[in-house]
Amino acid sequence: MEKFEILGARELNGKIKINGAKNALLPIMTSTLLAPGNYLLNNVPDLKDTRTMAELLRRIGASVSFKNNQLLINTVNVSKPVAPYDLVKTMRASFYVLGPLLGRLGHAEVSLPGGCAWGPRPVDIHIEALKKLGVNISLEGGNIVAKGNPIGNNIKFKFPSVGATGNLMMASVLGKGQTILKNVALEPDIISLGDFLIKMGADIKGLGTSELVINGKDRLNPVDEFDIIPDRIEAGTFLIAGAMCGGSIEIENVNPDHISIVIDKLIESGVRVKTVKNSIIVNGNKKIKPVNVTTAPYPGFPTDLQAQWIAYMTIANGLSTVTDEIYYDRFTHVPELNRLGANITMNKNTATIIGVSNLKGAPVMSTDIRASASLILASLASIGKSKISRIYHIDRGYEKIENRLKKVGADITRS
Ligand code: EPU
Repeated sequence: MEKFEILGARELNGKIKINGAKNALLPIMTSTLLAPGNYLLNNVPDLKDTRTMAELLRRIGASVSFKNNQLLINTVNVSKPVAPYDLVKTMRASFYVLGPLLGRLGHAEVSLPGGCAWGPRPVDIHIEALKKLGVNISLEGGNIVAKGNPIGNNIKFKFPSVGATGNLMMASVLGKGQTILKNVALEPDIISLGDFLIKMGADIKGLGTSELVINGKDRLNPVDEFDIIPDRIEAGTFLIAGAMCGGSIEIENVNPDHISIVIDKLIESGVRVKTVKNSIIVNGNKKIKPVNVTTAPYPGFPTDLQAQWIAYMTIANGLSTVTDEIYYDRFTHVPELNRLGANITMNKNTATIIGVSNLKGAPVMSTDIRASASLILASLASIGKSKISRIYHIDRGYEKIENRLKKVGADITRS
């Protein structure tokens, strides 16, 4: 199994280009199932999850090729509407095929995602909403078997779930009549999915607000070409790297509006942040002020940056708290950060961090995508050598992270 070796405590300086957003890409890939034809997606990150989703689309009958950060998808043949366990267990976003397959074929079988590394991640909001659209759902041999063409209805989500919003949008655009979705997610990934569906000819009103009105169409058209939006979580991760390691890092190809809360928190922590069009420059500061964070649905502080923010606060000058209100158990990075010399204690879903003057390199183990990112950040800031094992997690969400960090002066090698 591959690992990273990092020799820390080096200043980082230079430019990093941000790639396309994984969490925008994945539902856009599945939405190509809605209308037969050819699609070209640009700015596609070369990730393990991109390849897993491509494999899933192929198993369903599509042909997919991936080269030079471009995806070519042909969905003329969609013959086997099944997402099998071997793929769903490695990537929960496989669940995103449910909505489009119901829209196109009125039939989908998707393995029920189990828990994940940090705890239960239910899909009840998706299921309840699909039932309201008249879809018949049963559980057979660990698979959700969904049958029926969606029929418009009014649905109010009990929580603005990103995945349920995406799935229900995709199920409704080819449904019969009008669907009204209330309390929907507002994440840029979901807005971008909406833009893509509208380009396919979908009738969606209210995009960017918490209520969507969708009038079902008889058919949709393929989209010749579409650019995946920049990954705000990747951008946030590299900004925190710059803030932790001193020096000056410029993040290019980013939409600063998508991470304005992260920029505000960084400024509060005492670093200088300058935004110029699609770039953000962060200048590290030796004295980091402690800043509390509580995660919330967009535009709140993203749960996908919670682990990285905890890593940052481990070297702040004082006490801070980080609370995750989206995933109560997403803290597997905490004991590993403590191995690097951090002083973090947990109480329910709140981490209390007492800043230390130095982290010290150690062997640590990554447990999920964002936990891995936090361990890389902490190792970059540590004195001495760290070894991070199980780095396959990071390859799910960050394209060749070591090469990009090397370019700005990090001493990191994959072995
Ligand atoms: N929830 C339910 N029932 C449901 C669905 C969600 O109770 O049916 C709960 C979840 O347990 C959680 C909260 O609602 O407490 C939010 O879940 P949501 O459905 O919004 O998350 P998701 O769609 O499963 C996406 C991202 C995650 C990101 C979350 C929150 C993708 C492919 N995944 O997951 O990204 O953390 O939104 O922003 O878009 C990552 O990239 O590392 C990652 C985990």
